[in-house]
Amino acid sequence: PRDREMEEQGGRRRCLVLVPYPLQGHITPMLQLGTILHSRGFSITIALSQFDFPDTSNLPDFVFQPLLNDSLSKFNDPDDIVALISNLNLSYRVSLQELLIEMIEKQQLERQDPQELPCIIYDPLMYSAEAVAHHLKLPSIVLHPSSVAFLLAFCVCPKIQKEGYTPFQVSKSLELVPELYPLRFKDLPVFDVKSVDDFLQFVTTVSNLRTSCMILNSIDCLEQQSLAQLRQKLQVPIFLIGPMHKLVPAPSSSLLEEDRSCISWLDKQTENSVVYVSFGSIASLEEKELAEMAWGLANSKQPFLWVLRPGSVHVSESVDSLLDDFKETIGERGRIVKWALQKEVLAHSAVGGFWSHCGWNSTLESVSEGVPMICRPFTADQKVIGRYVNHVWRVGIELENVFERGEIERAIKLLMVEKEGEEIRQRAAELKLELQLSVQKGGSSYNSLNELVELIMLQSK
Ligand code: UDX
Repeated sequence: PRDREMEEQGGRRRCLVLVPYPLQGHITPMLQLGTILHSRGFSITIALSQFDFPDTSNLPDFVFQPLLNDSLSKFNDPDDIVALISNLNLSYRVSLQELLIEMIEKQQLERQDPQELPCIIYDPLMYSAEAVAHHLKLPSIVLHPSSVAFLLAFCVCPKIQKEGYTPFQVSKSLELVPELYPLRFKDLPVFDVKSVDDFLQFVTTVSNLRTSCMILNSIDCLEQQSLAQLRQKLQVPIFLIGPMHKLVPAPSSSLLEEDRSCISWLDKQTENSVVYVSFGSIASLEEKELAEMAWGLANSKQPFLWVLRPGSVHVSESVDSLLDDFKETIGERGRIVKWALQKEVLAHSAVGGFWSHCGWNSTLESVSEGVPMICRPFTADQKVIGRYVNHVWRVGIELENVFERGEIERAIKLLMVEKEGEEIRQRAAELKLELQLSVQKGGSSYNSLNELVELIMLQSK
């Protein structure tokens, strides 16, 4: 009926141009936001390199516009994340600007209504979109793909450095960061970068974007305190509208093919018995870690579903041949897939625990289904998120030390079956209910979304 109403009024509301950063963990929340705003009547264009398009046949509501790489510079250090992001911004800036100019001209030709200019919603890592918006005098909004606590920690890094804490000495790594309880210095993202100076420059760019508001896929009841702190630091309206996949169900935006067979395998398992294991779309393992994981899982005696993404293990021979003995030992008790339908897996009644890298999407998907976690963060925001899962929300267990099969076996047993893990399991079930309330009519995310839609509408007048 909403669509009919809009057609009667002369079509959809203004066009929103969404500019995700081209990684799975960033594309997914941007397309979820697109689905939500499409359901509120906006027309949605996705601007992304063609090589990073998900299967567009799943997403008929969106117009996909390929961005062309305009950069002649060759980038050759894949480990230097800050330089990689900067290069990507340089590469796509011209193409994005051309696309927007074309849209504006077409719109003026068709509708003669200069008021209804497109609004850009971009990932902060695609910060050049902000410069383009400013240049064309278009409104812009930023969607942060991570948690409020992470964004806060990120913004506080330059101040911490000024206070003399950087470079972060190893001796301080277990100390609490001032203002950021319960984060320790070792949880801060700065540990993982090549040059602290480049990183701090990058933080300054990303935390000073001139945007009309900021959206986060988070929930008041999870991050109220961090949100209050963040609001003191940033002078823009902030909307928490998570978990977005529960506000409006979004179609799959996977870049890899999903293995559906894992669902029929789960159907044969008993309730809450399966450990689901996945480290997202970027994290990778060493050969030794793979072996420790495998035998930790085998020795735990729990059934498990394990996602081993192609290329995610640094090995000299094939992963399959390394796991021959292991596969023989576990038989039907475990299943390994290349890519799962993660949201469906976590919602399946057979799944009782999630061993995760604590990417923000995975964490929200787990918490939304009341699935307790084993946290093994790798990089970026994952250590901050892991700390919150264990110490604030208390729905997980932290795997602190290096990968070791005995430690893994103990963590799985504790999470899945032992009495000691009962409180964590109980807490996860409670948190699920709190999250459900937030997306229902009158809930915090539901209300925030209404306010956001109003703000976008006002911008068009
Ligand atoms: C990255 C960062 O690492 C993460 O910390 C940040 O918050 C977003 O960008 P990624 O590492 O891929 O993302 O992790 P995550 O945020 O958890 O996103 C992974 C997505 O892939 C999830 O939505 C998950 O459902 C999906 N997925 C993962 C699948 O659909 N199938 C799989 O088999 C594994």
